[in-house]
Amino acid sequence: MTIVVTGGAGFIGSNFVYYLLEHHPEDRVVCLDKLTYAGNLSTLAPVMAHPQFRFVKADICDRASVYRLFEEEHPDIVVNFAAESHVDRSIENPEVFLQTNIIGTSVLMDACRKYGIGRYHQVSTDEVYGDLPLDRPDLFFTEETPIHTSSPYSSSKASADLLVMAYHRTYGLPVTISRCSNNYGPYHFPEKLIPLMIINALADKPLPVYGEGLNVRDWLYVEDHCKAIDRIIRDGRVGEVYNVGGHNEKQNIEIVRLICRSLGKPESLITHVTDRKGHDMRYAIDPTKIHSELGWLPETKFEDGIQKTIQWYLDNRDWWETIISGEYQNYYEKMYHNR
Ligand code: NAD
Ligand code: DAU
Repeated sequence: MTIVVTGGAGFIGSNFVYYLLEHHPEDRVVCLDKLTYAGNLSTLAPVMAHPQFRFVKADICDRASVYRLFEEEHPDIVVNFAAESHVDRSIENPEVFLQTNIIGTSVLMDACRKYGIGRYHQVSTDEVYGDLPLDRPDLFFTEETPIHTSSPYSSSKASADLLVMAYHRTYGLPVTISRCSNNYGPYHFPEKLIPLMIINALADKPLPVYGEGLNVRDWLYVEDHCKAIDRIIRDGRVGEVYNVGGHNEKQNIEIVRLICRSLGKPESLITHVTDRKGHDMRYAIDPTKIHSELGWLPETKFEDGIQKTIQWYLDNRDWWETIISGEYQNYYEKMYHNR
């Protein structure tokens, strides 16, 4: 089979490329990525010469380039990770989120209709369900939870999900959608909570916790997300949504304290800064459907996954030092100076 992985130079997409090449050596993997600030070719360097791998630099919104790729490769499966993914950036500038996350999704699905496809898989997010209150730990997101978004990012992802289901119903496109909770692990871009705190702590810089840090996220090791998507594209039912998460809820402040402890850094580095606008309080996934239909369960315990992740950042300084030495400095200054 030929599998097109869009956004494969980013965090989860690259982990998925590695997962496929390791676990399905019979499959050809074609990565299509625009290489935005979040996409990095050094992330894929170890597989660039792999005989079953091809990298194509292109924008998913660029119809001609996408169609050309489909003409050349006739993919069996498309897995769409390509997106603008950072909530804070979407609050600063929503437009590019609408362009990539909505228009890009429609261009990819038009290509799937034109050239024929076995499966189009949309990598979505639990953020499409909005948030849950902190005082109702009995509540979880199921696939039936209404879409109720908070940020321009989550609204763009929800719009894309609606389009995906519309292409299924209107054109019979064989689609699936996964909605996963927060991922962590190798190649996570330094703008996100866990890598940002690890990297700042290593430099003895302030650790900027939004508000009180009581917001809860449901953390999943990235390889477990990759396994879930792999199960869905092969055995998931067409036209279905699958929630992905591992009942691993943590307050932000707990995570930051844990990182301090692991790196032997003082908690006095923690600095409470102005909260994110419209900040979602709690995400929590009910993964019953993917477990009962596809037998998927997370395999990496948070205690192990977070230590592996911290160790990865210690062992791969070159990767993140290069990233934070460029344009990232301007971003950091803009988002965190005098916050
Ligand atoms: P990321 O920001 O690390 O990577 C995004 C990748 O997409 C980059 O390689 C970038 O270059 C590429 N890209 C962006 N715009 C593009 C365009 N127009 N054309 C082609 N490529 C483009 O993102 P991530 O954290 O790996 O997230 C991947 C997907 O998973 C996203 O769709 C996101 O919504 C979803 N998701 C992420 C998480 C999480 O915790 N990170 C959880 C659930 C779902
Ligand atoms: O739930 C899935 C989503 O998880 C994905 O759809 C998004 O693409 C992904 O970025 C992630 O969104 P979050 O907003 O939850 O992740 P982020 O790492 O930006 O923030 C996690 C929490 O930490 C959130 O409550 C905000 C807080 N935070 C974040 C940063 C960057 C801080 O307190 N300080 C920070 O500097």
